[in-house]
Order: sequence, then C-alpha cells, then structure tokens
Amino acid sequence: MARIKTAVLFSGRGSNLQALIDAAAKTDFPAEIIQVISNVPGAGGLVRATTAGIPTKTIDHRSFKRRTAFEEALNAELLDAGIELICLAGFMRLLTRTFVDRWHNRIINIHPSLLPSYKGLRTHERVLEDGVRFSGCTVHFVGAELDAGPIIMQAVVPVKADDNPAILAARVLRAEHLCYPSALRLVAEGKARVVGSKVELTNISTPEPILINPEVGLPNKSGKAASP
Ligand code: GAR
Repeated sequence: MARIKTAVLFSGRGSNLQALIDAAAKTDFPAEIIQVISNVPGAGGLVRATTAGIPTKTIDHRSFKRRTAFEEALNAELLDAGIELICLAGFMRLLTRTFVDRWHNRIINIHPSLLPSYKGLRTHERVLEDGVRFSGCTVHFVGAELDAGPIIMQAVVPVKADDNPAILAARVLRAEHLCYPSALRLVAEGKARVVGSKVELTNISTPEPILINPEVGLPNKSGKAASP
C-alpha cells in the first residue's frame, strides 16, 4: 500500500503532532509523516519528531521580510521532500491565498471549536463567556479564509458549569487527539473528498444519539424521541 507522504506544520508544544506521529507509526496507517516543520525555533514539538526519527526543519517566519518569502521557503522545502499532504497542527501563521491555492485541497487543519463558530484565538474563553453547552474540535480542509474550509470531522464535548478555559481546553484537546488521526486516515484513504464547498464521505457511519446538556429532567436518556 502506498502511503500518502505527509508533512506536519506546527508552532508550539505539538501534542496533535504527537497524536499524528503515534497513529502513523503503524505501518498499515495510510499516511506516512516524512517531514515536520516548525516556524518557531525551539518549539516543543521538534523534540517529539526527532524522538520518532522524523526529519525536522525550522523555518523562522521572523527571518523573512515578507510573508510571501516565508511561504516560498516553506513551499520549496515541501516540494523537495516530495510532500503530498500537509497537516497543520497548531500552526499559528496565516497562509496566503497563493499558498493555499498551490496546495489546493491538500492542506488540512485542526481547530479547537465547532466551526464555523469560534474561529480565531481565545476559543475556550469565548465559549465560556457565551455560556454555550457544547464545544469541540473540527478538522477541515484549509481555505483562504481563517479557520474556514470544507469540514471533514468534528468531535463534541460538553461544557461544564465549573469549567475554566484551561479545563475546557484540556477536554477539547483530548477530543483533538482522537479526531485528527481519524480524519487524516479518511483523507489519506480517499474517503473524504471535497465536492463543491463540502466534504463528501464514503463508507462511514454516523452516530445516532441526541446529546442534551444539561441532562436533568429528561424522560429517558436513550436519545430516542417519542413517536411522531
Ligand atoms: C490545538 O488546540 C489546536 O487545535 C490549536 O492549537 C493547539 C495546538 O496544540 N490550533 C488552532 O487554534 C488553529 N487555529 P498542540 O501544539 O498541543 O497540538
């Protein structure tokens, strides 16, 4: 089986990078991580990749005068490594339309909210400020706009009454670590394909239950509604 040659781009501690590395360590996983690139010198995730024996590269965006020059360097590195698919895993740089177009439908990203809600930064703070009952994460193909593009997979977590941003972030992060490898598998197997502005999935099952938060006073917890 030919495995999709994948690069992971990141900027920080790299826990999602680790989840992808762990999944791809199995030889039957349809994607192989062959390049890891950070735009931040000394980012924690670099050690994770090195430990796994994956080549790393740091391309510090601050050493380029223009965003386009940074992206040229990034692009050259990716082409040089023969990359077919890019995973953004906490990569905190906006990519220009030119770069995204070059890698059309070959860049995926994870974001710690249920997109299209809560794009951008401070997601957990804003979720708590708004008092919404569920949050989660989204894996999506990258479009030219910030945290937008066809959605591949989402995971939902409850927001609890005594949450603070750190507690909620940790709960969402656990969901991210489950979601990202699964979404990458779908893409690498060709089971998640962009059609128009959406992702079409093949051979997948959809969960049945209705989730209600808070759960108090429900007639039954099976998630089955009364007959119409
Ligand atoms: C993750 O929560 C990821 O969803 C988020 O950055 C964090 C990186 O953590 N990405 C974004 O906010 C992108 N808009 P990690 O370095 O431990 O994977």
